[in-house]
Amino acid sequence: MKKKILVTGGTGYIGSHTTVELINAGYEVVIIDNLSNSNREVIDGIEAITGVRPAFVEGDCTDIATLRNLFTSHPGIAGIINFAASKAVGESVQKPLLYYRNNLVTLMNLLELMPEFGVRGIVFSSSCTVYGEPDKNPIDETAPIKAATSPYGNTKQISEEIIEDYIASGAPIKSIILRYFNPIGAHPSALIGELPVGVPQNLVPYLTQTAAGIREQLTVFGNDYSTPDGSCIRDYIDIIDLARAHVIAMTRMLDGADTDAVEIFNLGTGRGLSVLELINSFEAATGVKVPYRIGERREGDIEKIWADPKKANEVLGWKAEVPVEDTMRNAWAWQQRLGQSL
Ligand code: WQD
Repeated sequence: MKKKILVTGGTGYIGSHTTVELINAGYEVVIIDNLSNSNREVIDGIEAITGVRPAFVEGDCTDIATLRNLFTSHPGIAGIINFAASKAVGESVQKPLLYYRNNLVTLMNLLELMPEFGVRGIVFSSSCTVYGEPDKNPIDETAPIKAATSPYGNTKQISEEIIEDYIASGAPIKSIILRYFNPIGAHPSALIGELPVGVPQNLVPYLTQTAAGIREQLTVFGNDYSTPDGSCIRDYIDIIDLARAHVIAMTRMLDGADTDAVEIFNLGTGRGLSVLELINSFEAATGVKVPYRIGERREGDIEKIWADPKKANEVLGWKAEVPVEDTMRNAWAWQQRLGQSL
């Protein structure tokens, strides 16, 4: 009997790639998504890759009745992976109530319903943004949580606390919190990938749109940081590596008898790359030039952060494996498949 997993936000970038890996690992998947930042054609891509069409419910997780109906019509859900959230840092500054309501009410609804329907575990999509600007790199899970620099980052910190407090109150569930660094890339099939809405805020989709001629020029937001080449450093993790970590976490939570009720893992490669280094690796991997200029720093950017992934490597038995050149080629293949559509 296949274990059934609910993936909220499952037509999104990380949700869709994780659904593919869950299906490949033998899980049955139910997706709920309100399609506010994705489209239902992603389901076709998932089916084309895996040969399996996951059940799909169009709905908003902030509505508890919608969720209760889902658990009733899809009995036997053993675990949840919660991706459903608003995630644009800049937008969260403009619309804080939307972010607090969407991200926190979604999580609280799921947590409240889990004991009612015998759902045993929830994997929560958190972010390295909870660390703010690290005092030192690489950064491990014992690093201090710093005051959030955006409502988006604050929703991740508060969500982690909600999970900890709810389980400490005796809720009969477990959770694994995954703090992502910078997810990039696309599925090697080029059948699913990142679908930014409007002008991309993140580096790689803006880079590939520039390479495709959709954007005239990429702006590097500052080269006067105290880094070797002056541009900011991040830990870019391939989306397939990231998705596989979720499958390992879910399996550990559902099958790992003696694990702690709440476990937290940093998901990164352990290697920092600067903006300029990433541009160079794209050009070297694809042979495509990326016109760029050096611009002003972007408000709110931190200078450098990369993970110490030792705990995930040793406890989860997970390690990032996809070389950044492959990631760049996959991102480019996906962009070419998207063509000139914005
Ligand atoms: C990376 C680097 C920019 C665009 C954010 C969120 C994080 C997570 C990932 C959700 C920075 C530089 C970017 C451009 C540039 N999101 N850059 N020109 O800001 O590290 O992380 O997205 O979970 O929580 O904070 O990612 O891709 O926006 O930027 O020079 O056009 O690329 O300055 O140094 P970031 P990013």
